[in-house]
Amino acid sequence: MISKGELIYEGKAKQLFATNDENVLWVEYLNQATALNGLKKDAILGKGELNNQITSTIFEHLRQAGIKSHFIKKLSKTEQLIEKMTMIPLEVVLRNVTAGSFAKRFGLDEGINLKQPIIEFYYKADELDDPFINDAHVLNFELATAEEIAELKQATLEINQALITMFKKAGIRLIDFKLEFGRNAKGVLVLADEISPDTCRLWDASTNEHLDKDLYRRDLGDIVPVYQEVLRRLDAIKE
Ligand code: TMP
Repeated sequence: MISKGELIYEGKAKQLFATNDENVLWVEYLNQATALNGLKKDAILGKGELNNQITSTIFEHLRQAGIKSHFIKKLSKTEQLIEKMTMIPLEVVLRNVTAGSFAKRFGLDEGINLKQPIIEFYYKADELDDPFINDAHVLNFELATAEEIAELKQATLEINQALITMFKKAGIRLIDFKLEFGRNAKGVLVLADEISPDTCRLWDASTNEHLDKDLYRRDLGDIVPVYQEVLRRLDAIKE
């Protein structure tokens, strides 16, 4: 029997606990929403449950599509077990459609299909506001090797295809998303963290209505009913 140990890390939206297995962590999703690198912060009842359930469902879909992640299993509405990782301090963003900081940086409207998916790296450092960096920076700061950079990009493209297929069935257009990777105990690169409406831009396929955290970031409305709708649609396409 796996048992919960001491708190080892507290992030903006989750807590990580040790377990009696040194290679397994216990995650608790919190009712917390943040934006602007933590400057905007609110307690939102029900959010922890929704993100835990959505992330678990997505990792299960990916597993069926042959894509491994750190996800082991959902334990309860707000808790899951994951494989312990040494995290790579990178946010790997893939964009299919212009939006957010990309649209702003290049002075473009949101919603324009890109000719091919664009992958970007951001260095995870709160005190620097997670700066945009390139492959040379990643190599120079020894965040990953050249082989790992190639692996990260290839894995991200494959995950994009699997997510596009999954969300399309749910009537959702995948605009962009952020992934994080870690190395497991064997040193293998594995998809980690979460995939949820906090970390993806999801637009309704017929109306382009926002079904993601931009509602919170831009003060456009309540995220809870929208996250419930994403979960409902993902549950409906389960095989
Ligand atoms: P951006 O357009 O603000 O750079 O965001 C790109 C995607 O990455 C979007 O789906 C939201 C996600 N994201 C995170 O998950 N965490 C972050 O800290 C940031 C900046 C973006």
